[in-house]
Parts: sequence; structure tokens; C-alpha cells
Amino acid sequence: AMIDKGNHRHFMQKEIYEQPIVVAQTLRSYLRRIDDQVSLPVPDFDLSAIRRVTIVACGTSFYAGMVAKYWFEQFARVPVDLDVASEFRYRAPVMEDGGLALFISQSGETADTLAALRHARAEGQKIAVVVNVPTSSMAREADLLLPTHAGPEIGVASTKAFTCQLAVLAALAANFARAKGRLTPEDEKAIVGHLAEAPAAMNQALAQDEAIQALAPLIAPARDVLYLGRGTDYPLALEGALKLKEISYIHAEGYAAGEMKHGPIALIDEAVPVIVIAPSGPLFEKTVSNMQEVQARGGKVVLISDEEGIEAAGEGCLATLALPKVHPLIAPMVYAVPVQLLAYHVAVLKGTDVDQPRNLAKSVTVE
Ligand code: G6P
Repeated sequence: AMIDKGNHRHFMQKEIYEQPIVVAQTLRSYLRRIDDQVSLPVPDFDLSAIRRVTIVACGTSFYAGMVAKYWFEQFARVPVDLDVASEFRYRAPVMEDGGLALFISQSGETADTLAALRHARAEGQKIAVVVNVPTSSMAREADLLLPTHAGPEIGVASTKAFTCQLAVLAALAANFARAKGRLTPEDEKAIVGHLAEAPAAMNQALAQDEAIQALAPLIAPARDVLYLGRGTDYPLALEGALKLKEISYIHAEGYAAGEMKHGPIALIDEAVPVIVIAPSGPLFEKTVSNMQEVQARGGKVVLISDEEGIEAAGEGCLATLALPKVHPLIAPMVYAVPVQLLAYHVAVLKGTDVDQPRNLAKSVTVE
């Protein structure tokens, strides 16, 4: 079918706005609301016997994998190795027999990821694939195929595929935890409930679009931008920086908030906006203290949090953005929205080719 932009100026904008629907669509095939259980396709291997997981992907899909590493280790207590696909084979990774290798890809055709998949198969790993194109090479080569239902993604910079990947990976983490005997039915019910709230919370985040657009003039003149986060908001910081680089051509770095004092703090001055991703939750205080280290050096902070977080720490920020208060499990899906929209509006302001940024390709089929 022909895909058009509808009322949107760019495919990327359309795809950002589609997220509540496509995430709901994706969750529908992984959550069973009737008994509040996650329900995944049953693999031809025993999930409970998996002792180590290797996650491999590129670009935005890699950052989804990084979030998944936090979840798998936290919920299922299974150790996870994580690599970008272009490095994976060449570091001679150690894979014990009976391990699970998980590949994440929108296209299912990224050459490095596909080569990594074949390498892991040759090393005796079971192969799980989270992929948006069900007819792709990776989909065909999977032992456990976990499709995202994002629909075709046209914008070169990935958006809706990312949040759908997170939805699938959260369900997989819960499934894994159950297989490992680490999830009571009550815990599972709670997880299903939290995930089911993601689409509405993402809608609320989209409702902040005007406020996000108003931040763009603060970022567009910058030569460098820093993104900081902790826990699963660290991969979000990396994704925020990647989105900005890809489409606005502004140099941006994502950093673990606590690592900033080991280097990037030397960059801080009034000309480097620092975007702090800090939903209220167990890591909030620690992130805020890193944010204050930035402010003490004259840094200009944009704090993305919820009302409660902004109330507690918003003073002295250049700008704040309030999102709905959400459970930490779904925060990466919800906070992806402002991070994407901010990059989008900065790019529009700079007049770049948002859907076809220079030097980039939608699907990279060379190594
Ligand atoms: C390209 C795209 C990115 C994408 C990456 C991985 O670089 O521009 O948006 O994240 O490839 O693609 P995949 O299809 O494997 O997710």
C-alpha cells in the first residue's frame, strides 16, 4: 500500500505520533489481559535453562537492547552481554553452549547484525529476534521470532520501532523472569498493568508537543549538547543524543549521569545545553545531584521529569518539561517521546532534511 504523511509535515513526525497506537498494537500480542499474564510464542528450547544472554544490535535498536539488559538482569537475574554488532564477532566473544543470543533490528537486514546472528548460531546459541519486518532475513533465521507491530517505518531516524522494541523486550523480560521462577503471579499482574498504561502515558507526552517545540530555539544554536540519565534513562540519554546528531547535525553526547564528573564536565559552560532525563523514582536524587554539579559550573539545564520531580529540582534550570508520572518500567517508552520530538523540532528549525538526513541510510546492508 502507498504510505503517505497524512496531516504531518514529515514521516518522522507521523511515526512519532503513531507510537501510542503501534505500541498498544504490539502489546496486544504479548499481554493477555484476561488473566494478566505476558504471553509470548513458545520457543523450541527451554527458557528456564538459559544461563546467559547475548544481546546484539546497531544504532537505535542497540539502545533498546541496552534497556533490555537492565531489565533481564533485574527481573530474571540472568547475566547479559551487550555488543554493537560491528564489534561483536571481532572481539571473539565467549558463548557457552545453551546460551541465548538476542538480535534487535527494525529492518531485519542490517548487515552487521545479520552476520552477528550467523556467528552466534555457529557458536551454538539459540537465536531470538525482535524485528519489525516479518519477512526479513533475521526473521527467517530466528528460533524465537518476536515481531514488533510498528508498521512500515519510513523516516531514516528510527522512532516508533524503538518504543515497540521496548514493549516486546519488557514482555520478554517478564516471561524470562517467570521461567526462572522469579515472578509471582502478583508481580506479573503488576507488570502487565504497568505496560498496559504505556500507550496512554505516551499520548500525554505527545500532548506536550508545543512545550517541546518551545525548547527547540534553546538547543538549535548550540554546537554541542549533553544528555544525562541513570539506569534505563542512560540508554535514553544515548538515544536522545543519537536522534539529535542524526537529524539536526548538532554534536551531542549521551552520558551516564554519574560518569559525567570523569570527563564531560570539563565541557560545561553556558553554551552547552545539558538535557537531564530524570523521572521521579529510585535514581532521581542521584541524578539531580549530578545535575547540580552541572549547574554549579554555569551549565544550562533542561530537566525532563514529572511534576513531582520538577517541583523538587526544577529551580535554577533553563527550562523544564513535565511528563506524566509513570512506573519506572514504562519510563523509557514515555520519555522517548520528548527526546524524539525535541530532535525533530530542532531539525525543522535548522531546515535539515528530517526524513532523509545526509550520509545516513534507513537500512545499512554493508558491514
Ligand atoms: C540505520 C538507521 C537507524 C537504525 C540502525 C539499525 O543506521 O538509520 O535508525 O537504528 O540502522 O537498523 P535496524 O534496522 O537494524 O534496527
